[in-house]
Amino acid sequence: AEALRIGVAGLGTVGASVVRVIAEKQAELARQCGREIVVTAVSARDTSRDRGIDLFRTAWFADPAELAANAEIDVFVELIGGDDGPARASVKAGLEAGRHVVTANKALLAKHGVALAEIAERKGVLLNYEAAVAGGIPVIKTMREALAGNTVNRVFGILNGTCNYILTRMEAEGISFDEVLKDAQRLGYAEADPTFDIEGQDTAHKLSILTSLAFGTRIAADDIYLEGISNITQADIRAAAELGYRIKLLGVAQRTESGIEQRVHPTMVPTASVIAQVHGVTNAVAIETDILGELLLSGPGAGGNATASAVVGDIADIAKSRPGFQHGPVFGRPAKELKPYKQAK
Ligand code: HSE
Repeated sequence: AEALRIGVAGLGTVGASVVRVIAEKQAELARQCGREIVVTAVSARDTSRDRGIDLFRTAWFADPAELAANAEIDVFVELIGGDDGPARASVKAGLEAGRHVVTANKALLAKHGVALAEIAERKGVLLNYEAAVAGGIPVIKTMREALAGNTVNRVFGILNGTCNYILTRMEAEGISFDEVLKDAQRLGYAEADPTFDIEGQDTAHKLSILTSLAFGTRIAADDIYLEGISNITQADIRAAAELGYRIKLLGVAQRTESGIEQRVHPTMVPTASVIAQVHGVTNAVAIETDILGELLLSGPGAGGNATASAVVGDIADIAKSRPGFQHGPVFGRPAKELKPYKQAK
């Protein structure tokens, strides 16, 4: 089979890791997929920065939307970020041009995911987004594919690596919020604007995607009770510890009599519970269903390599798919059949 040609837009922490992993694992990926995967074109604002990756034979595009629609690529990978602007324009252009799209952009999906899914389904292409929720944890594949037939009653978890890293180090080392946040930024965990992490919006974006997959509803990121961790002090952490609890930022979505409840806030969890053992940049997602019971997934939730692992997995899915094959719906059921979201009273 011919090589699968990849265009990558956005060469920050995640984009650079994706390009590096694809190059380093070239032989392994070719064996697994039955064809080569090659990054043939990129788009990034800064063309001169040394990212430690080889881009000498790679075409550069100033406009990511032009890259997305270019007939010389098979898959467009959007790692620009932001819920509008060039990220949305390029994903839309790529799908409309019949390209498969892979994105790690939870903010974009939380706002425009259903509209983009409609285009992907109309065009018969894939829109894969494993990296958008809980970094390297394969929670999208699990919910979209492995849990078919299950009725989900509740999904909750630690969905932001930066916040969990901050809370873990504040508790273990007794140091201040601001000090730890700087390290989280240096390690490439935090968003471009870290208020999205610490004020809970990033968790809310991810939760809204999980809610749609769990309950078959349209994405409703604005209907989430939201409280972040920026007000958590050493005194709060010590008081919780004395009572036998740890503070974790949780996102929770559950079915109730009157509709679906979605919320994001710092939560006291018993020190002995499994979720309290999730430390550092690790994320965890618990899914409760009628057939399976309770499933708990945990693993690296942020950072270049963890996120690249999920992006490359999504690309490999496309490499293995066969021309003419009808792809499954983006959010587990056809976008047109997603139910209206009804918030619990
Ligand atoms: N800033 C995000 C986090 C990156 O800390 O979890 C992964 O989505």
